[in-house]
Amino acid sequence: MNVDGKEMRPIWFNTDTETVQVIDQRFLPHKLIIEDLTTVDEVIYAIKEMFVRGAPLIGATGALGAYVILVQDGNKGVDDAWFCAQCDRLKAARPTATNLVWGADRVMNAALKEAGYDARVNAALTEALQVVEEEAVNCKKIGEYGLSIIKEIAEKKNGGPVNILTHCNAGWLACIEYGTATAPMYTAFDAGIDIHIWVDETRPLNQGSRLTAWELGKHGIKHTVITDNAGGHLMQHGMVDLVIVGTDRTTRAGDVANKIGTYLKALAARDNNIPFYVALPSSTFDWEITDGIKDIPIEERDPDEIRYVQGLCDGKVQSVLVPPEDSPAANHAFDVTPRRLVTGFITERGICEASEEAILGLFPDKKIR
Ligand code: MRU
Repeated sequence: MNVDGKEMRPIWFNTDTETVQVIDQRFLPHKLIIEDLTTVDEVIYAIKEMFVRGAPLIGATGALGAYVILVQDGNKGVDDAWFCAQCDRLKAARPTATNLVWGADRVMNAALKEAGYDARVNAALTEALQVVEEEAVNCKKIGEYGLSIIKEIAEKKNGGPVNILTHCNAGWLACIEYGTATAPMYTAFDAGIDIHIWVDETRPLNQGSRLTAWELGKHGIKHTVITDNAGGHLMQHGMVDLVIVGTDRTTRAGDVANKIGTYLKALAARDNNIPFYVALPSSTFDWEITDGIKDIPIEERDPDEIRYVQGLCDGKVQSVLVPPEDSPAANHAFDVTPRRLVTGFITERGICEASEEAILGLFPDKKIR
């Protein structure tokens, strides 16, 4: 996507230096820092510490990370056991987004089909770059399908602004291009539809106020940052027409794990008859499970992410302590929205209701035979 006249993605393979490079999202929007990922330990650290985050991007990083394992200093050449063990470490870097295992496995399996070292490296890079390009195309298609939902609301409002609420960052920074939840917004804006986005700040790490607001601003889209608790009030007062969020893992039956607080937005949307859509590529469906509350692993992160808030102060990105020094904090990073609260899914194959039957109608290849 375009950032101040320069085309950017959150991850790419630099063909000059033959290295994987990423935007270190921890410092956005105040500093744009690029990092090289040259070993599996660096890739794991970047995922855990959230230089890279968001389900499709974690999947792409898993894919390129599996390639990095093969070419890093100290690699063990053709040694299946060592390669698979390193891939397992990579796949365990964050538990909730299903894309990580999906992306790393695709590259691992492509590499393991080759017997010689050079062929293995080539196969891994080819497959990893294909994962990246496929996800970019998938997000573009999500935008094209999602446009119809926004267009219909704009027509009902006689061209009045469509107010869309979103949570966390499910934008291009979380994907490769366009984003998932934001893809229909970018497509609608580019088609000349008047839209305005309510951006949940998304504590504790503020992916909304730091990342979504930055992305939308760079594209010229009208937006307003709100506290995580404001959505219900805005909905009661007719100030929200539509909610679109992303997801880190959605079961084959349609239960949705996404950033903590999503469930509360879905409850408020249902109470106010506001459509609540979830946008996702097929790589985010977990085809093995149906019950999200029981079966989706929910990451618990360092309580210091709650206790400290980061921002710009005197030109430097700094952290400050908010609660009393000795107050304990708990940091559940995701929650599950049951399918009964979801109006529909926007995928690269079209829009469907939140039911196993409707999802499998779009993805018949995933039917259990
Ligand atoms: O902890 P994060 O920032 O990785 O969580 C990201 C989200 O919850 C996103 O909403 C989700 O991954 C969808 S990304 C297109």
